[in-house]
Amino acid sequence: MSDQPIGVFDSGIGGLSVLKHIHACLPNEPLLYFADSGYAPYGGRTEEEITARTLAIAGFLMQQGTKALVVACNTATAAAIRALRAQYPDLPVVGVEPGLKPAAALTRSGTVGVLATQGTLASEKFKLLRDQISASTNVEFLPQPCIGLADQVEKGELQSADTALLVRRYVEPLVERGADTLVLGCTHYPFVLPLIEEALARLTAQPVAIVDTGEAVARHLVRLLTERGLLRAQGPGKIAAFTTGSESVLKTAFARLLGVAPPVAAVAAAG
Ligand code: DGL
Repeated sequence: MSDQPIGVFDSGIGGLSVLKHIHACLPNEPLLYFADSGYAPYGGRTEEEITARTLAIAGFLMQQGTKALVVACNTATAAAIRALRAQYPDLPVVGVEPGLKPAAALTRSGTVGVLATQGTLASEKFKLLRDQISASTNVEFLPQPCIGLADQVEKGELQSADTALLVRRYVEPLVERGADTLVLGCTHYPFVLPLIEEALARLTAQPVAIVDTGEAVARHLVRLLTERGLLRAQGPGKIAAFTTGSESVLKTAFARLLGVAPPVAAVAAAG
């Protein structure tokens, strides 16, 4: 069992920002990455649609023999992780959620901006987390839906003027309202971090902390696999990938964002 792969999926290429940390923390582990780019973005989809996609992808990855599953997508975690755990009660499942807790520990102004999809911010899971942490810390969280931003990343527009404009439009009101910490609540957003930093530098002379949970997710996965005796003793762990979108887009994303060239296969719908 310990030689089996770990499945990692996202609506598209955003989850590569999490895969990068998983590969760095667990170099012996074979990793299967599933990009649901044919159905991206998830941000504006209903919980029912996202749950159906999540269960279909999980079923596909289980058929490949995955020993653990990482939902490298905040939107899918918020919508579907409960259904996923109910379907596979014995499978180690790790989700991703906006890092409100670390942000609350970092802020000095007491105001934190949360950049995420509409789906994540509208979810019960997010509201519960926000209310819990606000109540215990007195920190105010400003939700900022970033419509279109994950699309720009999917298109590979990590530096374009359009993406820069969009980033600025989303970051500006948060800074104006006194946020000194920003949470990247979508796994696509670490790929536009340079644009976020550029926008911040134009808007304020004060330092603004940026919270990304990719590394914490990888560490959590290491703990889970260790506890269950599922760590693979010897490497190297290879990466293989699947997409419901374009193979060449995913290949380019791997090369550009992770500097690796795993085999990529196109799959119809996985469901
Ligand atoms: N990467 C995803 C997230 O972490 C979702 C982006 C999208 O498909 O809208 O929320």
